Amino acid sequence: MDRRPIGVMDSGLGGLSVLRVLRQELPDESLLFVGDQGHFPYGTKTQAEVRQLALAIGRFLVRHDAKLMVVACNTATGAALPALQAALPIPVVGVIRPGATAALATNPRTIGVIGTDSTIKNGAYERTLHELQPAVKVVSQPAQPLVAIVEHGQTGTPAAQRAVDKVLQPFASQPVENLILGCTHFPFLSKEIQHKLGPAVRLIDPAYETVQTVKQVLAARQLAATGGQQTVLYTTGRVADLQTGADRLLAGDYAQCASIDIDGE
Ligand code: SIN
Repeated sequence: MDRRPIGVMDSGLGGLSVLRVLRQELPDESLLFVGDQGHFPYGTKTQAEVRQLALAIGRFLVRHDAKLMVVACNTATGAALPALQAALPIPVVGVIRPGATAALATNPRTIGVIGTDSTIKNGAYERTLHELQPAVKVVSQPAQPLVAIVEHGQTGTPAAQRAVDKVLQPFASQPVENLILGCTHFPFLSKEIQHKLGPAVRLIDPAYETVQTVKQVLAARQLAATGGQQTVLYTTGRVADLQTGADRLLAGDYAQCASIDIDGE
């Protein structure tokens, strides 16, 4: 048994959608979350910039005794997963392969992917989907404006529905069976996305499959904990912003919320 926390990172609040599932599925694990709101958004940065930020957060998590790192950010997974796995002395799990695996589980002929500008340009989902199932047709669509809608607390508003309708318009002429929510901010817009695409399209939140991967790694390396969890939240931005988001998206259930600086990491 290993009571060290699991470290989780994102550029902002989106990673809380993964944290939510980790808490449900692994109730004995303590969690250490870093939202890099001081450098938000990642989706419009270069791959090298995102890699540098993810590595700094990885080093912070290791210094704070994390036993495993979850990159709860598609942009950072696409830009930095191999670099993190090579640089850190702990296992690192990303969200793209689990998301692709979950999307293929129902044997669809067509899969849509929405993500940040960086994630779509990087092509990691398309590559992984084709590696796992060469015949599947993939329709990728950048949806960067939706990230700010979630980060600024506008989910459930008419403005959010208008933004979703605009971004998803290309799927009217290129219909898909499953749609990967390829940014951890997007599950918080599931209602609006489902409303636009209709009930027949299956929305894939990579968080569930990612947490299954985390479970497998914990078991294989004998890292699992028992005895109850504690969640600690850190931000590189303003504590009030993370706190407001966590009160809304996690129902305020965390032990501590504090500000950190990763620039020296
Ligand atoms: C962003 O910071 O642009 C969102 C990152 C992501 O979850 O992919």
